[in-house]
Parts: sequence; C-alpha cells; structure tokens
Amino acid sequence: MNSNILIDTAARMVAPGKGILAADESSGTIQKRLNAVGVESTEQTRRDYRELLFTAPEIENYISGVILYDETIRQSSSTNVAFPKLLEGRGILPGIKVDRGAKPLALHDAEKVTEGLDGLRERFVEYRALGARFAKWRAVITIGTGIPTQDCIDANAHALARYAALAQEADIVPIVEPEVLIDGDHDIDRCEAVTVRTFDRVFSELKNQRVLLEGMILKPSMVLAGKQALRQSSVEEVAEATLRTLLRTVPAAVPGIAFLSGGQTPEQATAHLNAMNRRGPHPWQVAFSYARALQNPVLEIWRGRAERAEAAASAFTRRARLNHLARSGKYEPGMEKSA
Ligand code: 13P
Repeated sequence: MNSNILIDTAARMVAPGKGILAADESSGTIQKRLNAVGVESTEQTRRDYRELLFTAPEIENYISGVILYDETIRQSSSTNVAFPKLLEGRGILPGIKVDRGAKPLALHDAEKVTEGLDGLRERFVEYRALGARFAKWRAVITIGTGIPTQDCIDANAHALARYAALAQEADIVPIVEPEVLIDGDHDIDRCEAVTVRTFDRVFSELKNQRVLLEGMILKPSMVLAGKQALRQSSVEEVAEATLRTLLRTVPAAVPGIAFLSGGQTPEQATAHLNAMNRRGPHPWQVAFSYARALQNPVLEIWRGRAERAEAAASAFTRRARLNHLARSGKYEPGMEKSA
C-alpha cells in the first residue's frame, strides 16, 4: 500500500467544486434505465450512451471521476479510445464498481448483504491495469418493521471494510457506500437513528481492518423521511439531520463525503447538497456521487436518438454545473428555470 498515492487520489476525487458521476449501473439496472426511455439495452446502445456522457462538453470542470461497470471499463469510444484513457485524457479519474450486488441475507427476511469478496484481490490487480484509480462497493440497509437487525448491519459493515482494505492494498481508493434505503413510510428521526447506528459500525470495522481513513471516500445516503412517509422533510431539516449524523460518526481524517442520490429528484439532490455546503466549512469535503440525479434528465432527452445526443449531453453538463455550484452553496432553485 502506497499511502501517498491513496491520499492524493482521494483528494482529487473530492476536489473543491467537483463530484463524481456514477455510471456503473450493472447489466440489469442499465437495462431498466434504458427500457424506461424506449431504448433496447445492447452492448452498442450501452456504449453509445456512456460515450455521450463521457464526452459531454466542459464536464472536466465539474466532474472529478466516473465510476464504471466491468463491461464499460473494457469498452472504447466510437473513435476507438478506451473509456478509461478517454477520461484520463480529460483529467477525470476512472473508477470501477467491484461488488457483485446485494443478495438476500440468509435466514433474515427482507434484508440483504453485498457479495463479491472472493477473488477480489486478483480482480483489483486487473482493474488497476485497466486504469482504475478508485473503486466502489455498495451495501444496502432497509428500514422496516423490526429491521434493520444488528446482524445485517454487522455483516455489511464487515464486508465493506474487507473490500476497502483489499482496494488500498492495490493502491486503489475505496468508495465505501453504506446506503440506508429511502423506501418505506418511516419518519426522518427513524432514518437518522438507523444511519447513525450503521455508520458507527462501518467505521469501527474500517478501523479493525486497518483501513487508512485519509485514503478513502464515504458515499452515504442523506437522512430523509421515507418515500412513502406522510410528512416529507424540508431542505433545511434534511441538511441539519444529515450533517448532525455525519459529524457524530465520520472521523475528520476522512477527506470527503460524496453523497448518492438514492431516488431523490435531481432538483432535491442538488438543493440538499447546496444547503449542507452553505452550512460549512465542514471537517471533510461535502461532494456528490450521483447516478440518477445526474443522468435522468439526460436519458429523458436522448431516448436513443442520435440527433438528440448533443442536447442530451448539454443536459448532463448543466446538471453537473448546478451540482458544482451546490458544492460551494451557490446554487439557487431559480437557476432550474433560467439555465
Ligand atoms: P444514485 O445516485 O442513483 O442513488 O446512484 C448512486 C450509486 O452509485 C448507487 O450505488
């Protein structure tokens, strides 16, 4: 493990004003996203769509890194440049999703544990050769009657820490992603309690596995009322509860936090990020690592039509720029109309 490489890469990932594009949808997820806008999911359409994102104008000013999927890190642009190389050429770090998905946790109804540790050391060696500088592993925690159990939190936190240690051994910065799901009718207080319990456990396991905190990025969910809750929280409530949670659980040695959007609308995800940065400075950079909140407006315009690729790419640049403004608390909801 080379600490300097890890510290330097992590700092670049959460450089002021910048955030990460998650474009690492698994085959099943990207099929869902493409089908939703009337596009068949083939190797070619997936390539075309990802190329549209990676070649969008000016994004190197707002996007520090892109998380790729196994298929994508091996693909090339229509001009025959390997995607990791194309991104590096723009000063954008290529990353790779390495988990193998959240699977049912045995003997635990409705709870999941993320798989993918077997053979991971060897896969990191290959991904590093393909150009990956950082990685991602997502764990999911579900809120419901009687869940999450401590067993589920423990199993996921342990796997996250084992993954993070293997990543650092290969000089790859681990994005540690414990996602408390937005699904359910729980209130924001319940979400906060579960999130604190989860992050406490995650950092305790990270320390047990000797993970260098300065060389990792946390990718958390925001603290929100459940999607089906009767009362939804205000932007200020979300910012306050999320920051309180992070301040209580995330050591200041961690260089950055890069939120997932988790089913929020693009506008909500940007407004929440903005409200948190307006309350700064914080011990860590407060950044983004969105998939849907950056991509949904792009897919809506593109719909697989080559003649709309340019307009779709501009929509990505615009969303990236609004989140760039939210990185320093300079976003205003009024910009949604004018931009
Ligand atoms: P969303 O922003 O769509 O939640 O996706 C982020 C991500 O990478 C999930 O693992």
